[in-house]
Amino acid sequence: MANTEIQGSSQKTFNHNKYRAFPPVKKANRRWPDNTIETAPLWCSVDLRDGNQALIEPMSVEQKCRLFQLLVEIGFKEIEVGFPAASGPDFDFVRKLINDKMIPDDVTIQVLTQAREHLITRTYEALSGCRRAVVHVYNSTSTVQREQVFQRDRAGIIKIAEEGARLVAEEAKKHPDTEWVFQYSPESFTGTELDFAVDVCNTVLNVWQPTQEKPVILNLPATVEMSTPNIFADQIEWFLDNINNRESVICSVHTHNDRGCAVAAAELAVMAGADRVEGTLFGNGERTGNMDIITMAMNLYSQGVDPTLDLSRSDDVIRVYTETTNLPVHPRHPWFGELVYTAFSGSHQDAIRKCLHRRKENEPWEVAYLPIDPADIGRDYQEVIRINSQSGKGGVAFVLEQEKGLQAPRWMQIALSAAVQAEAENNAAEISGDQIWQIFQKRFMAKEGGWSIGNYRLEHSNLEDTVEVELHCQTDTITINRSGKGPLDAFSNGLEKLGIHLDILDYSEHALDNGSDARAVSYVHASINGQRYCGVGIDRDIVLASLKAMLAAANQALKTDQAIA
Ligand code: KIV
Ligand code: ZN
Repeated sequence: MANTEIQGSSQKTFNHNKYRAFPPVKKANRRWPDNTIETAPLWCSVDLRDGNQALIEPMSVEQKCRLFQLLVEIGFKEIEVGFPAASGPDFDFVRKLINDKMIPDDVTIQVLTQAREHLITRTYEALSGCRRAVVHVYNSTSTVQREQVFQRDRAGIIKIAEEGARLVAEEAKKHPDTEWVFQYSPESFTGTELDFAVDVCNTVLNVWQPTQEKPVILNLPATVEMSTPNIFADQIEWFLDNINNRESVICSVHTHNDRGCAVAAAELAVMAGADRVEGTLFGNGERTGNMDIITMAMNLYSQGVDPTLDLSRSDDVIRVYTETTNLPVHPRHPWFGELVYTAFSGSHQDAIRKCLHRRKENEPWEVAYLPIDPADIGRDYQEVIRINSQSGKGGVAFVLEQEKGLQAPRWMQIALSAAVQAEAENNAAEISGDQIWQIFQKRFMAKEGGWSIGNYRLEHSNLEDTVEVELHCQTDTITINRSGKGPLDAFSNGLEKLGIHLDILDYSEHALDNGSDARAVSYVHASINGQRYCGVGIDRDIVLASLKAMLAAANQALKTDQAIA
């Protein structure tokens, strides 16, 4: 009964029949799918305008200055800094940038204005004294805006654009000391009939009369993302095939992320001929955001294309972004998220570890599960592999090697990872490198309550070795004095005194540090009284390290239940 009610009510509200499919562009000669992106587009950051106007609490002038500085350091050459005629703080910020000479010579600021006379005049006031600036004028052109918001026909909308373009050009003439660049956006381009978008833009071009030497920017916004990215690319290609004086136009795109495809749409638009891309760091912007420039630039970088932006200091970028916008960066954000170079799954960890071990300097990057070298953006390999209950032996071994320099042999990795997994499951939490080290010591090296080695002497002859070892356990002390085919065999024979029959199944050792006084680590896989144990010993004396490893295994056997399999 309850179920039927839920179904009934959801059918009324959650009803796809309310919506229509976006019509595809009728296009016979589609060329863009065969293109590849070989150079980065011109970038324009709109963080301080579109990004800022979408914040619950817009940035203070101080925060804007910090973000502007970061954008300059990253390498943006065009930065939209506000809508000064509509907002007092934006006006003040533009004045501060100019008065305090904060704009480097190779950076051009851009400001937005509606195509209305008093706003255009005020915009030029804000820019007074600026060396070079882009004046970005826009009006809405889509069918729904025309019919329902402005209640104007096509001619009425063209008139607004034409008048705006004329005012922008006339006002610019009154301020000849500034180098002016004009930009026009048919706002809501994605909802505009393509022939009409071309008509409006041709009208604007007719007013501005651009040349190849002095081009203008036509910015085509997906104000609302309404279709799959291939349709947006069709729109761009169609537009560019039909616009007048293409050579004198810088075609810019400004995609929003309503369907989650703003980056893909911008990429396909560049394949379709767009020269310039507007967007924001981490995609901050109205509703679902603007196009995320970090993702698009890193996408290019990972394909061997110079993104022309320096994103190597990811932590600084994240810090300034979060402090100025008060927005977090999602831990799984492409390229920069905290967890994107982290593998929890055992098979992934194993594959990464193998690739990293085999990798040779200066060879093209080819590492499973890691599309780029995390070090390029200031990430550490140590973060790459993290351990939880899903992790396998490869990951645990990787962490142990990274943190303690221990190259545990395969049979020990298996035993250790089982112990680590049990701990992770018990705590239902991630296990840190320090915890792995503690588990390792407790499981394979501990002598707590067991025997430890005091004085020892080794006598070597051609036929056999003899070891004399003092063993302590709490108040007890015994001395072993036995011979064998080597010191390990001799010690093994000596352990009979503790009721231990120890056969070495596998053995491995390596130096832990460099130099003549380097410590050695020995790993012993032993069968003791029919059960398998692993033991580890560390000492500057390699023989003593091995005896310690054997005794560690023996101690486990004496404590009974620590057999491996
Ligand atoms: O999304 C949009 O259409 C805009 C314009 C003002 C360019 O931000
Ligand atoms: Zn926008």
